[in-house]
Amino acid sequence: MFAVHLMAFYFTKLKEDQIKKVDRFLYHMRLSDETLLDIMARFQAEMQKGLGKDTNPTASVKMLPTFVRAIPDGSENGEFLSLDLGGSKFRVLKVQVSEEGKRNVQMESQFYPTPNEIIRGNGIELFEYVADCLADFMNTKGLKHKRLPLGLTFSFPCRQTKLEEGVLLSWTKKFKARGVQDTDVVSCLTRAMKRHKDINVDTLALVNDTVGTMMTCAYDDPYCEVGVIIGTGTNACYMEDMSNIDLVEGDEGRMCINTEWGAFGDDGALEDIRTEFDRELDLGSLNPGKQLFEKMISGLYLGELVRLILLKMAKAGLLFGGEKSSALHTKGKIETRHVAAMEKYKEGLANTREILTDLGLEPSEADCIAVQHVCTIVSFRSANLCAAALAAILTRLRENKKLVRLRTTVGMDGTLYKIHPQYPKRLHKVVRRLVPNCDVRFLLSESGSAKGAAMVTAVASRVQAQRKQIDKVLALFRLTQEQLVGVQDKMRAELEYGLKRDTHSLATVKMLPTYVCGMPDGTEKGKFLALDLGGTNFRVLLVKIRSGRRSVRMYNKIFAIPLEIMQGTGEELFDHIVQCIADFLDYMGLKGAQLPLGFTFSFPCRQASIDKGTLIGWTKGFKATDCEGEDVVDMLREAIKRRNEFDLDIVAVVNDTVGTMMTCGYEDPNCEIGLIAGTGSNLCYMEEMRNIELVEGDEGKMCINTEWGGFGDNGCIDDIRTQYDKEVDEGSLNPGKQRYEKMTSGMYLGEIVRQILIDLTKQGLLFRGQISERLRTRGIFETKFLSQIESDRLALLQVRRILQQLGLDSTCEDSIVVKEVCGAVSRRAAQLCGAGLAAIVEKRREDQGLERLRITVGVDGTLYKLHPHFSRILQETVKELAPRCDVTFMLSEDGSGKGAALITAVAKRLQQAWKN
Ligand code: BG6
Ligand code: BG6
Ligand code: GLC
Ligand code: GLC
Repeated sequence: MFAVHLMAFYFTKLKEDQIKKVDRFLYHMRLSDETLLDIMARFQAEMQKGLGKDTNPTASVKMLPTFVRAIPDGSENGEFLSLDLGGSKFRVLKVQVSEEGKRNVQMESQFYPTPNEIIRGNGIELFEYVADCLADFMNTKGLKHKRLPLGLTFSFPCRQTKLEEGVLLSWTKKFKARGVQDTDVVSCLTRAMKRHKDINVDTLALVNDTVGTMMTCAYDDPYCEVGVIIGTGTNACYMEDMSNIDLVEGDEGRMCINTEWGAFGDDGALEDIRTEFDRELDLGSLNPGKQLFEKMISGLYLGELVRLILLKMAKAGLLFGGEKSSALHTKGKIETRHVAAMEKYKEGLANTREILTDLGLEPSEADCIAVQHVCTIVSFRSANLCAAALAAILTRLRENKKLVRLRTTVGMDGTLYKIHPQYPKRLHKVVRRLVPNCDVRFLLSESGSAKGAAMVTAVASRVQAQRKQIDKVLALFRLTQEQLVGVQDKMRAELEYGLKRDTHSLATVKMLPTYVCGMPDGTEKGKFLALDLGGTNFRVLLVKIRSGRRSVRMYNKIFAIPLEIMQGTGEELFDHIVQCIADFLDYMGLKGAQLPLGFTFSFPCRQASIDKGTLIGWTKGFKATDCEGEDVVDMLREAIKRRNEFDLDIVAVVNDTVGTMMTCGYEDPNCEIGLIAGTGSNLCYMEEMRNIELVEGDEGKMCINTEWGGFGDNGCIDDIRTQYDKEVDEGSLNPGKQRYEKMTSGMYLGEIVRQILIDLTKQGLLFRGQISERLRTRGIFETKFLSQIESDRLALLQVRRILQQLGLDSTCEDSIVVKEVCGAVSRRAAQLCGAGLAAIVEKRREDQGLERLRITVGVDGTLYKLHPHFSRILQETVKELAPRCDVTFMLSEDGSGKGAALITAVAKRLQQAWKN
């Protein structure tokens, strides 16, 4: 009995001594809670640094956006391939996610070896090997004929700008294949798979193993929002608020961030914690100076740390009687599985003794106790460090959610965590101590990262299918060169019909003579009134022209024309106009003045002289009764008479295109075309009199108001009109009319966009499938909003804000789609307009028998002026379709009113000359 006690006493004493010895020797590796809280605070700062746009480039913890935005919601389904590369084992899998709405996942998989010559050889060969394994798997599983989406779990740091792409920042752990760093690994894989002509896979998602783990666990526990790997390497990911992620546009919702915490300390932040063993281990690694935190924690390194410690202790005579074996001298001889086995306390010292003996050592009882304790200290430090970093993440989550207590789940995986007997318990305990205000559930991922990767792929494949639907709609607006040439040719034909007496009445492009026959010559002078009706604004102007100097002075006032007047009776409309003139005269102190007046009236009028214009039909937003078929000059005169306050000499009625051409022609005599891309769309140009069959005489030129907005009213461009164009037409004031205008001008582009958005919403592709009242409202997308949305300088958030101002509650994803829709519609408009203009300039060139034509186009209109891309695309199209014409575009700065006054001045001069 006494002997037993003595033995027990002896053993306890021996144990105590050994433990004390090791504790003393490894003093530096034992971290107090105070130190852990300090490390936790440092890691919090590192996360912040990695998330900031300006600080990210120099941050060692990269905080990589993963483009995984949501955890699984159970609606995922389909059949997927999955590759799992970068952990201790390489696997190829087939994952079948719930067919009938119940959460159910079936997996079949196959492991493949990863020999060192492959993972540390040539990058191309590495991916060819991966592709070969995949092909082999598909072959054995009879999947060759299927086109399956693939999710790639790739457990290395990758910079992603989208889910299906990732540039390898650096290899870590055991991998070091040449020529892969800084390239997109998905492309590498895709290229390698091309060699297998008989298989067809689409890599839709690139996922880090932490992300895969989080998703795997989240499929079973929706609280899971963190994924941690403690395996060959170590790392964590978590769901971060988008508003905190500077590197990705958008601010609503969350996105998973792959922290790459393994690199914590690479900038020296942990030097006070690192020991001589850590430094030695690092120097002998594949990536010296890198992944310093990982090297204190993960499975690839723990055994080696223990070996270095034992060697040093042996050298110091503290172990094995100072004896060292050659195995103890050999790098990699102690592995993590050995550490785990030695720490199986239940088995006493048996495992330790066996392992040490296998290393060619002859351990005493005391040695075994000491070595076991070395293992404990090393693995305990690992768990402590992980706990500190994880505690930092949990605190961040709690603060993001502004909660006093956080309830959350952490998905866990990795061989060290799984095979080490005490690791999980220790980790959990320390975490709970460091963050007492978090209720954490640790959930072991039973089925690896690939299952989660399949969930991500499932969502990606749904998004891809939706994308295809959106692209299908946008494709309707993409015109080929051939189609544009077709438009140009048809326009050209219509121009000729319009000019010829026999075909004129059938032509959709009316080619109206304007009786404007020449450009101002600079001798014009005097004071004129001008009206400018039919664009966005109604203006009354006073224009003073000074002779010889080619300069004018203008005073103008904008007046509103209420909708009920635009669409009321003709008498009301003209009375309102006269009322505005009276106000203006009053305002200018010109009451009772009798001035010559030029009337810019931006609608199609049949003219018999410069001061007569019969309205053929209203266009755009006007529909006043009793005007069509009437002379608008007469109507204005009568309204002036009705008012009986002043008299005005109405000398000219001018289309806005003509006014624009004149405004520009006053400065550039080469300006022989006027183009409007505004509320409406139209063009005028100087035509040879001999070509104008409707007007007597063959000498000289006359300006023709083409009224090209009516192009296509006979159905000749129906092949390129979409269902959306038809809907816009049907909802307009003039159904069936102005079809070309309805595809090219400001008043309608927004409406086309709205129709598309309604359709996409109906298809469930936008606005969560909800068509709001606002979206049903006609005219919400005015040209100025369209222009703002498409501005390149605008961040997505600003686009979203504009949409919100318009009453459309959109997500950032929605905003991207809306911007694309706007882009497609306005691009088509600019191209169509360019094709029309190309037809005109080519006609002018041919008519004059020129090899090359140099001509200036005076342009005006809100679409041309405000839209960020319209003018450029228009000009590019003209260049392409009319390569032998040098077309200069001159923006009209002063509006049509100035031109109208100049025309009035010329007409007045001619009138005078005729009288004399
Ligand atoms: C597995 C994942 O479950 O865990 C791997 O599927 C991952 O992709 C691994 O890398 C991490 O553990 P280890 O120990 O294999 O590196
Ligand atoms: C202006 C003219 O400058 O341009 C108007 O003075 C013309 O008469 C207008 O109608 C065209 O642009 P919008 O975009 O106002 O229709
Ligand atoms: C390494 C990799 C990281 C991975 C981790 C666990 O740290 O850089 O991407 O998640 O190992 O496998
Ligand atoms: C409409 C009118 C036309 C005008 C154009 C631009 O197309 O019919 O006369 O020039 O809009 O305002």
